[in-house]
Order: sequence, then C-alpha cells, then structure tokens
Amino acid sequence: MFKNSLDLPNLTSKCIFISNRNIGISYVSRGNWGEDSYRKLADAVHFHVASSAPNSNKLRIKSRKQTQNLRLFLYCENMKKRNVKIKLKGNSHKYKVEVGNDLLDDCGVWAKSVLSENTQKIIVVSNEKVFGLYGEEVSKNLENAGFQISTYLIGDGEEYKSFQSLQGTLEFFSKKELKRSDAVIALGGGVVGDLAGFAASVYLRGVPFLQIPTTLLAMIDSSVGGKTAVNTEFGKNLVGSFYQPKGVLVDIKTLKTLEHRELVAGFCETIKQGAIGNMELFEKTSEFLSEYSLKFFTENLNDEKFIKNLIDLLVSQINFKAEIVMQDEKESSTRQDAKSRKILNFGHTTAHALEKVTGYKYFKHGEAVGYGILVAAEISKRLDICDENSIKSLNNVVGLLGNLPDAENIEIDKILQTLVYDKKSIGDSIQWILLETIGKPKILKSQDIPQSIIRESLIKVLKG
Ligand SMILES: NC(=O)c1ccc[n+]([C@@H]2O[C@H](COP(=O)([O-])OP(=O)(O)OC[C@H]3O[C@@H](n4cnc5c(N)ncnc54)[C@H](O)[C@@H]3O)[C@@H](O)[C@H]2O)c1
Ligand SMILES: [Zn+2]
Repeated sequence: MFKNSLDLPNLTSKCIFISNRNIGISYVSRGNWGEDSYRKLADAVHFHVASSAPNSNKLRIKSRKQTQNLRLFLYCENMKKRNVKIKLKGNSHKYKVEVGNDLLDDCGVWAKSVLSENTQKIIVVSNEKVFGLYGEEVSKNLENAGFQISTYLIGDGEEYKSFQSLQGTLEFFSKKELKRSDAVIALGGGVVGDLAGFAASVYLRGVPFLQIPTTLLAMIDSSVGGKTAVNTEFGKNLVGSFYQPKGVLVDIKTLKTLEHRELVAGFCETIKQGAIGNMELFEKTSEFLSEYSLKFFTENLNDEKFIKNLIDLLVSQINFKAEIVMQDEKESSTRQDAKSRKILNFGHTTAHALEKVTGYKYFKHGEAVGYGILVAAEISKRLDICDENSIKSLNNVVGLLGNLPDAENIEIDKILQTLVYDKKSIGDSIQWILLETIGKPKILKSQDIPQSIIRESLIKVLKG
C-alpha cells in the first residue's frame, strides 16, 4: 500500500524505491532494476520527493502522479557517494570507482548495476580476516539481489599472493562451474585484489571482475588501474596481467577496523601520489593530515565533516591514479615523460630494496615507500634538480604520520647491493623517479646518478 513516508535503513546511497502491484518495495529496492531504468521511470512519472529531514531516516513524499501500474515512486539522492569514471585510451571498456560511506549494505544493487543481467553466480574471494569482518554483510546483500554466492578464502599475508593460492582459486572456480557470464568479487586489500583479479583474468580467458578494496592502499592504488599479479620465488608481481574490473566499490566504513600501521602505509602512498601529481593534490593530502591526527582516525569516522573530507581526498587520489593509467595503461617501457605510468614508482626503488633486505617482514610496503620518497627527494636535492621548499614540505608531511619503523640498523651496503643485483637480474638499468618540484617528477637512469649520492641520501634519510 502507498504510504506517505518510508523508513529508510540506509540513506547513504543513491536509491530509488519503486513499487507496483506485482513487485513489493523491498524486492525492487534491492536492485533488480538498474539505476538507469530508475532514472527513466523517474523522468516519466515526475514524482516529487522531499529531501530527508536532517538526522531522520524518513523521506516524505510531497506528491505523486499515478500511472498505470506504478503505485509508488521514490527517488532519493545522497551526496555522500561520489564516482570516478575510468575510460582507457584506445579501449572501449569503461567503469566507475564509487566512493562513499556505508556502501557495503548496498553492494547487491551496485553489483546488479555493473554486471550483465545474465550473471547468476558470484564468487567472493577474500581472506579469513576481512571476510570475518565484512563477509556476511556483503554475501547477504548480494544474495538478496538474487545472486548465488560462494566464497573462496585465502590466508592473510603477502605470502598468499602465490601460485598455490592461484591454483586453489582457479580450481574452486571450476568446482563451482563458474561461467563466463558469472563474476568474481575481490573483498580485501591489495593481496586479495591482485590475486583474485589475476585468477579472473585467466579463468576461461577472462570472467567479469569487481573489486571491493578494504585497505587505504587498495582503495587509492591497487584497485585502480587493472594491474593484477602473483609473486614467485624470484620476486614480487612477476606473473600477472592487465585486467580492468567492471567496477570498484570503495566503502570508507571498512577503514574503521584497519590497523594503525596499515593506515600509515596507505597514507604514505597518498603522499607519493600528491608529490608526483600536482600541488593541489599534495596540499589537499597535507592539509587533511595536518587537520586530522591519524591517532583518532577510527573515532573520526563517526564525524560528518571528516567523512566528507576523507571521501573528497580519496576521490582526488583515485582521479589522479586513473588519469595516469588512462593514458598509459600498460606502462610503456619506452616512455620517460612526466605522465608515464612509471612515475607511480616514485619512492619504490628504495622501498623494494628495503623490503627485500628485511625479508619482507619488517616493513609494511607503504612504510618502506615513506622512506623511499624521502630518499628520492634527497637524491634530487643533491643532484641540484629539486627546490629546497619541495623537499621541506615532503619531509613535513611524512612527519605528520608519526614515526616509521626504525631503519637505523639496516646496512646501507646491503641496500646498495640489492639495487645492483636488481639491475643485473632485470638486465636493464634501474630507473629512479626523482622530483624537480611538487607535481613534476623526473625519470633518471641509475647510471646517471653518482653512487656516492645514492649512498649519502640513504644514510641521511635512514640514519638521520
Ligand atoms: N595492482 C596494483 O596496481 C598494486 C599497486 C600497489 C600495491 N599492490 C599490491 O598490493 C599488496 C598490498 O596491499 P595491502 O597493503 O592492501 O595489503 P594486504 O592486502 O595484505 O592488507 C593488509 C592487511 O590488512 C588486513 N585488512 C584488509 N582490510 C582490512 C580491514 N578493512 N580491516 C582490518 N584489516 C584489514 C589484511 O588482512 C592484511 O592483514 C601488495 O601485494 C602489492 O604488491 C598492487
Ligand atoms: Zn606501492
């Protein structure tokens, strides 16, 4: 029956509730119709809907015009959800990264809107920890939207981004008779995203893939851009593919449970993107970190203004990564310009060496990047290619994150050897991403930088 108001359990997403004689409100509101169909209907019937009263979960309907079989049509739009559109150069595939708060309990509607209507089964790939936190909510929601859900869980940690996990995942897809019209969803951080994406890209030569990243790093970095991979005993990410998802859903609510160090690691990557991106992105990132201490991050996630600012920052970060990826999807090896996808490796030459010499156990990847960007900045300063102010700002903003794990005891010679070894094993020269100023990266070959400058910069930053 038509009611003058509706209780809305969740006002955080764009949603339309429709009911007619045959379809109940709940049935339709779970997303059996795509957003576009809703829009068309909304245009056709002109229902007027009052916006929700502040702090209220009720929407009041001002007036309605009945059509043949529509009894109720209600459209509510929530400004908290934002989109980044990704369209790759020379490629017809485009998709959206949707960013907001409390989006998981709408993930069925989202999945319906981005997958084909023939999709029946979805396999959610996750790890035990993340699935324990968010798996039930995600699975229930997808089931309510009419999908058959199965779950494949890997262990927690980088070591599970392996051939063995890949094999297990692919065998699970086969056992569940996943078809090309079905889909895979990665629910987790970069490890789960990279593995599930790679599995989806090779299974039946490619099945549709969606990402629900749950770490800050995965939200602004690994879930955007379509790189997928597993590690081998010879190194990280050595086997993989470029495979774009059909959609990405970023729910900042999931950051509430993220460990402090993981948060810091993610913010190191945001600083990296700001530094190579542009002054506006760099300042937005610095201002956010100056205004909000990461110590109170979880508590702050209950604050409206903080939520808005965080979403705004993530959208800008994702936009930047998307811009780079859109014009150099596969990281052309010959490009040396300031928009090459290679610039995303700012801070990563040192970071990879630090991770390697400490057995991949001591640093979170992002923490090592935190040191790496400072080393790259120091090298740039000593080469006289970077202005003093940029170096200062970069050091200040990394300082806002608090102390990174102590690096004083790491032998500089070992780091240098690792850099040389990497060079030989790749059969190519290492490329350093340096900085001329904030927003202006410069790619230099290792042989163009005196070894003494690399050594002194490492000492200055790590032994300070
Ligand atoms: N594909 C790319 O373009 C790309 C880019 C950058 C990094 N990566 C890859 O990403 C991986 C690193 O990703 P990561 O930093 O997300 O690591 P991760 O996936 O290991 O997650 C870090 C930790 O946080 C836990 N976790 C995840 N979400 C959580 C949540 N909401 N609450 C509580 N705990 C949660 C995980 O279980 C794990 O213990 C690396 O393998 C790296 O190579 C890929
Ligand atoms: Zn990184």
